[in-house]
Amino acid sequence: MWSANGSHCERTGGNGAAVSDVRVREQVLRLLEQVGSGLAPIVQAGDPVLRAVALPYDGELVPEELDALLALMFRTMAAAPGVGLAAPQIGLGVALAVVQDPGVGLPELEAVRERTPLAPRVLVNPRYSPVDGRTVGFYEGCLSVEGYAAVVARHHGVNLVGWDERGRPFDEVLTGWPARIVQHETDHLGGTLYLDKAEIRSLAASAGWGGHWALEPVPRTAAAELGFPLP
Ligand code: NI
Repeated sequence: MWSANGSHCERTGGNGAAVSDVRVREQVLRLLEQVGSGLAPIVQAGDPVLRAVALPYDGELVPEELDALLALMFRTMAAAPGVGLAAPQIGLGVALAVVQDPGVGLPELEAVRERTPLAPRVLVNPRYSPVDGRTVGFYEGCLSVEGYAAVVARHHGVNLVGWDERGRPFDEVLTGWPARIVQHETDHLGGTLYLDKAEIRSLAASAGWGGHWALEPVPRTAAAELGFPLP
């Protein structure tokens, strides 16, 4: 009921060895034991796990183990703080992600970006497709690319399909910021970082101009001053 394609989940790792369902479970249990009630270390760009295609989750964990992993992911995301976290970001090459966005409390910015609150939820083997040709460009960042933000043109609306943590399928349309978040997290599961899709001239250090540009509802001044196109 979990698998994206119904096929047996196996791939070949960098050393040529098969990375099997058993290996995923072992990795998860080892991480849970190491971390206890603490936070998982968030891996940074350059770690190959962020560039691998994650294995579809196919029920490798018993419900208690899955719940413990998801609790760890939510805890780690909240502490960062972030609005999404994909399993590869804590070193696990399996297609699970968590998302939650309470908003930023800046009404104009939230209105322009359609940053509506996103209730906590789990994405298992998610996939998305655009609902139309409209794209929107805003600054975003990633917990695995610490200290930077860049503008990414993303689909304004996507059809998201996948499963929740109990194996119930979903098939729905998301728009605005929630659509951006699920695109970013789903991309992680395919080994794609937001920088791959970013307007690279928009790249800004969060400690400097990045913080400034992040508050511009639509990055028009940033586009003009740094020299990158907006959709
Ligand atoms: Ni990210």
